[in-house]
Amino acid sequence: MSKAAVRAHTNIALIKYWGKADEELFLPMNSSLSLTLNGLYTDTFVEISDAFTEDQFRLNGQLQSEKETAKISHFLDLFRKEANRNEFIHVDSVNHVPTAAGLASSASAFAALAGALNMAMGLNMDLQTLSTFARRGSGSATRSLFGGFVEWQKGSSSKDSMAIPVDDADWDIGMVIVAVNKSAKKISSRLGMKQTVETSPFYPAWVESAEKDLVAIKKAIQVQDFEKLGQITEHSAMKMHGSMMGAATPIIYFEPDSIKAIQAVRELREQGILCYVTMDAGPNVKVLCRLSEAEKIKEKLTAYFSTEQLLISGPGKGIRSLTPEEAAEYDWSLT
Ligand code: DP6
Repeated sequence: MSKAAVRAHTNIALIKYWGKADEELFLPMNSSLSLTLNGLYTDTFVEISDAFTEDQFRLNGQLQSEKETAKISHFLDLFRKEANRNEFIHVDSVNHVPTAAGLASSASAFAALAGALNMAMGLNMDLQTLSTFARRGSGSATRSLFGGFVEWQKGSSSKDSMAIPVDDADWDIGMVIVAVNKSAKKISSRLGMKQTVETSPFYPAWVESAEKDLVAIKKAIQVQDFEKLGQITEHSAMKMHGSMMGAATPIIYFEPDSIKAIQAVRELREQGILCYVTMDAGPNVKVLCRLSEAEKIKEKLTAYFSTEQLLISGPGKGIRSLTPEEAAEYDWSLT
């Protein structure tokens, strides 16, 4: 019997990943770059035993349906194949993403699961190689293996489409998450991407400009130019949403409150507080800011949103295994 428990944090892309070149292998059309967040994470425990008669998947204490478990089994197969093992696996996963944040947790979920499987199977893959496995669960999970600023290099094959750490973000940087709407998104990113790649006339321009933005943002990170970092981040998000709006049928993730948050951020900038928005495949708005100014920004945003809708997070670290004591809090025994 082998067991392991691993924690992975979620990440928010500053240069977005939008569009797949290969849907089965999760090869992206463009490279991307993200910031790992400390406030939001997933803890995952795996147990492998030849006494088990099926794969099992428990999420937040609830045993999942056959359909949900089948998705996980597909991912487990990649590791079983790599390790040349065939036992069934039980997966127990707990998301520490405040429900009010309304954020998808597939990035931290698949990063934590990949980390736990790597340990439990004794594969000892380095994090870069492991990121090529996490990628097969959800593209954004590729970047959650590492902390701070992380680049996902699109690569040219399944073996080299991987994450690399760029900077530990150990400077004055953070995010205020504005949870505009916490209900599940109407169009999944998977579907939204496909529709954009296949039908938006703006899509080639998106890919071209994402590659340029990536070079520019890495320079800004290197010299810790926060203003430049923020400008590129906001512009990248809007260009991605622009490409979606050009799809047939147009994809619009904005809600009235998203616009309200964007306007509030512009007002804050006019008042001299440097902060910038980014948005993903949903209506929530993430405000990139100086961590030292996050409370002040949150305070201003309470004019439009309740405090439950506003969450501050600093940069997070890469994956790590849980201590036996931490695991015991979930009743997970590592021995
Ligand atoms: C807009 O990683 O959720 O958040 O690879 O299909 O699982 P799949 O998609 P996912 O897409 C993330 C899209 C994004 C941008 C980003 O995180 O880079």
